[in-house]
Amino acid sequence: MSVIRMERSLGDARQRRIARNFSRAASGYDAEARLQREVADLLIQAIPQGIRPKTVLDVGCGTGYVIAALAQRASQQGTGMTGIGLDIAPGMIESARKRHAALPIHWIVGCAERLPMADASLDLVVSSLALQWCDSLDAVLIEAARVLRPGGWLAFTTLGDESLSELRESWRRVDGEAHVNRFMAPSDLDAILAAARLCLHRCDWATHRTWHADARSALRSLKRIGANTVTARSGQAGLAGRGRMIQLQRELETHRHPRGIPTSYRVATVLMQRQSSRE
Ligand SMILES: C[S@@+](CC[C@H](N)C(=O)[O-])C[C@H]1O[C@@H](n2cnc3c(N)ncnc32)[C@H](O)[C@@H]1O
Repeated sequence: MSVIRMERSLGDARQRRIARNFSRAASGYDAEARLQREVADLLIQAIPQGIRPKTVLDVGCGTGYVIAALAQRASQQGTGMTGIGLDIAPGMIESARKRHAALPIHWIVGCAERLPMADASLDLVVSSLALQWCDSLDAVLIEAARVLRPGGWLAFTTLGDESLSELRESWRRVDGEAHVNRFMAPSDLDAILAAARLCLHRCDWATHRTWHADARSALRSLKRIGANTVTARSGQAGLAGRGRMIQLQRELETHRHPRGIPTSYRVATVLMQRQSSRE
């Protein structure tokens, strides 16, 4: 297919670690990804209703939920759509390929910051809860602006800095370290969106929570969705000994609600558009 250029290399050690963790999580991901489904459905709703995109890319597609839903919708509408699912984790791409074998979707291992697509080749780029793992959101937006056709749309969700606050606070009380990824402050996201070569239609924030019977299952759930990966300089998760894990679980218990132990996610939903050439 002409929109796909050759695959490029998968970047640095940090990206390889992220890819490895998500690949490991791939087989159990769907069973644990309730929050991700909730957010993905909101992302799909945020795509302007009237548009009939012919070429759609899902960046950080994981097991392919969003791009498969869009491909199914296009087929029900009889509009025909070329779907591409791209993810940095080969394990995720393998799962997506098997899961959605009946759908006409191209699956590619690749990185959001170096998209293997031709300039102005896509009508819609979507991404759900993946871009917070990238080194540079600016680089992703430059790539999105490059690959979108004039008038094309970008819709994405990403995490803000209050996400996983219970885990971050609990770790701080255990050893003074954060151990959790730093996510973007709303003011930083606003600045990046304002500087992008794409027109901003909306950026809305909402808090989502998952609830767990106990601290152990809260931690297990984060591991199963691959969200336990800690990117550079954020701490030293994975080096926790048994004693510190017990302390951590005790601290997490202090967040208990009647519904259980919460894990909070602060989610931004963003809709942008490449200006059409006449504007
Ligand atoms: C939380 S999962 C979300 C998956 C899917 N979008 C969903 O909603 O279920 C995040 C995904 O982003 C992928 N990812 C992380 N960094 C990436 C990058 N730089 N380029 C492409 N994909 C990336 C991970 O491998 C993982 O599959």
